[in-house]
Amino acid sequence: MTVTVSAIKKTEYQATVNMVEASFWEYDASYYNKQGQDSFLAYANFANFAYRQWHHHITFVAKDGNRIIGMIELRTENHISMLFVAPGEVKKGIGKELVSCALQYIAEHNPKTTYVTVNSSLYAVEFYKHIGFEATDSRHDNDGLIVIPMAIRIDKDCKLL
Ligand SMILES: CC(C)(COP(=O)(O)OP(=O)(O)OC[C@H]1O[C@@H](n2cnc3c(N)ncnc32)[C@H](O)[C@@H]1OP(=O)(O)O)[C@@H](O)C(=O)NCCC(=O)NCCS
Repeated sequence: MTVTVSAIKKTEYQATVNMVEASFWEYDASYYNKQGQDSFLAYANFANFAYRQWHHHITFVAKDGNRIIGMIELRTENHISMLFVAPGEVKKGIGKELVSCALQYIAEHNPKTTYVTVNSSLYAVEFYKHIGFEATDSRHDNDGLIVIPMAIRIDKDCKLL
């Protein structure tokens, strides 16, 4: 499998949203009540996703050929707003590669930024810790969507190990 990472194209929005939903149901949904699940599905739906791409967000997708197998969405200068790998494709290094690409983008475009934040899902906390993020606060409940605020410090040569 040859994985490429690139900025998302408009024609890839629907496949990306579909992959995010599938990954959410596979890995995350059982951690949340109905209200939390609905909050996430509203945030991730096509219309809201497309709107964000025009409003201070940028998304990179990981592809195997033309198949979308991962995505990372960044908000403003330094926040990961979504990170998803397709069911069946986890633990192959794709999530780490997407974060690495995002940190390099941030370091290049916002050289004054010294840290990157994420509101981690309960499922992903150990992944983020493993690649160098630390929890910065106790869990937050955003309309039933429970998240752990985390951050990683970066410098201009930022690279994950
Ligand atoms: C969290 C997620 C993005 C991780 O992506 P991934 O492609 O499976 O992660 P990687 O394969 O790149 O893992 C990188 C490292 O973290 C480790 N890791 C991955 N998931 C882990 C977990 N749940 N617990 C502990 N370590 C984990 C890997 O073993 C790997 O270690 P290594 O570099 O020493 O070999 C993926 O599991 C996912 O899409 N989860 C569902 C959606 C989600 O919760 N997203 C976060 C929203 S904030």
